[in-house]
Amino acid sequence: MNNHTPHALKELLDARYGKGPQTLDSMNDTIDTLMQHRSVRAFTDQPLAPNTLELLIAAAQSASTSSNLQTWSVIAVEDPARKQRLSDLAGKQAFINSAPLFLVWIADLARMQSMGDKREKPYGSLDYLEMMLVATIDSALAAQNAAIAAESLGLGTVYIGAIRNNLEGVAKELGLPPRAFATFGMCVGHPDPAQLSAIKPRLPQASVLHKEQYNVGVHDQVVPGYNDTMDAFYEAQKMKPLGAWDLHSLNRVRGPEAMAGRDGMVAALNKLGFALK
Ligand SMILES: Cc1cc2nc3c(=O)[nH]c(=O)nc-3n(C[C@H](O)[C@H](O)[C@H](O)COP(=O)(O)O)c2cc1C
Repeated sequence: MNNHTPHALKELLDARYGKGPQTLDSMNDTIDTLMQHRSVRAFTDQPLAPNTLELLIAAAQSASTSSNLQTWSVIAVEDPARKQRLSDLAGKQAFINSAPLFLVWIADLARMQSMGDKREKPYGSLDYLEMMLVATIDSALAAQNAAIAAESLGLGTVYIGAIRNNLEGVAKELGLPPRAFATFGMCVGHPDPAQLSAIKPRLPQASVLHKEQYNVGVHDQVVPGYNDTMDAFYEAQKMKPLGAWDLHSLNRVRGPEAMAGRDGMVAALNKLGFALK
């Protein structure tokens, strides 16, 4: 739906923030694609058009990358048996199997190491947390570019953070070298028209946009309203209510027992060659 009328933009704003007085008066295809985003967890059997993967990777490689180091890679998985094994490692999320393409995004310092070995140059910085962050950020920026490209082609995507539940198992399955780990997966496919997902509301802009300095007090002001917005969203979508958004979200961060194995991440990363100094 790329008709850039004020009415179309108002509808997208209402979907994104809940019905309200918000208005904006400019729009283009790119912003339209961004604002239409919703995660897709139900796919048809339709294969991807030829060259789709290469288009997505060209978009991903067009993202900014710290110092042009390009410290990321991506593994494209289409083999059903491998998708099944990855799904088992990532909380048995069935849509990993049903998506024709499963991309696993990699924070990749292995390339820098092999360049250093070849040129006989030191690469001590690779042992620092900073470089793990650089590679993680690079992989996320690349992945998001690919996601937007996919959505602009009418495809659907969903990120799979659960791929970090078992970093070592995933590294083994994908044959990752030392100094590389999976930051998240991404299902890509044609959305099932019978199970279309809706645009999910976000916090009001006042909650995330601070002007000049951080406004600590704003959170108490906006969260109750967002709880109501999310309640209304789940009701309208006839989805199982999750309870108040703040309580549900807090439940996700209650402690290591809620982390599905990811509380052991430092030890796992150490084993994968990230010293995290
Ligand atoms: C890094 C990351 C990891 C995610 N992991 C999962 C996941 O493992 N399973 C899942 O169903 N959704 C996952 N999601 C999707 C989020 O749940 C989703 O983006 C969020 O609820 C907002 O909904 P929307 O994308 O439809 O707007 C992930 C999203 C991100 C950014």
